[in-house]
Amino acid sequence: MTTSSEDLKRSAALAALDHVGEGMALGIGTGSTAAHFVRALGARVRDGLGIVGVPTSEETARLCAAEGIPLTTLDDTPHLHLTVDGADEIDPALRLIKGGGGALLREKIVAAASDRMIVIADGSKAVPVLGTFPLPIEVNLFGLGATLREIGLLSAELGLEGPIRRRLGRDGEPFVTDGGHAILDACFGRIPDPEALAATLNTIPGVVEHGLFIGLATQAAIARTDGVEWLPA
Ligand code: 5RP
Repeated sequence: MTTSSEDLKRSAALAALDHVGEGMALGIGTGSTAAHFVRALGARVRDGLGIVGVPTSEETARLCAAEGIPLTTLDDTPHLHLTVDGADEIDPALRLIKGGGGALLREKIVAAASDRMIVIADGSKAVPVLGTFPLPIEVNLFGLGATLREIGLLSAELGLEGPIRRRLGRDGEPFVTDGGHAILDACFGRIPDPEALAATLNTIPGVVEHGLFIGLATQAAIARTDGVEWLPA
């Protein structure tokens, strides 16, 4: 029997669910892998598990509501025990690229408010070096052109070249995040020093947040056809 990528995503989600306990406040991620986690969590909640969740996007909030998962906010619950979320790329040091679904700002705020972050993914997301997946950068709409130019100039100083494009939605219109910002996708190909790029992007005023998650993930459950691999082992 062949194992589909959805089967693998579900396996990773179920592995993370084993780390959820009674009374936890959870950060709940966004994307197709996180959606498997939400559905499996919903089944546990309907069986009596008592948790509260902070969703990382409006999309996840709707899915959680449909599953009957009690939701809270970081205003009411500023400290979370665990966040479970997907990723676009994971390197061996548990550095991530996130934001393929455009939720990176809330995802990073929620992850930073959590004691632990478990990343769930199928094996295609594990890479030796970040950057094949275009890096999402959330930017303020004001001054978009100038911010894009500055990102290009400062990235080039780090030796990073490649097109930086404003993301479009499925309807072909410019994509707008839950926070009302634009996303730029930077096609660098390879990011040998993610810390240096993150530090540089953090200096650009129009950059709201970027998809480099460094020092946030504490574990990753990576599902392959022969089982779930945990990082660190
Ligand atoms: C959304 C994200 C997602 O977690 C990431 O894009 C992975 O999504 P998927 O599980 O659908 O591959 O960062 O902003």
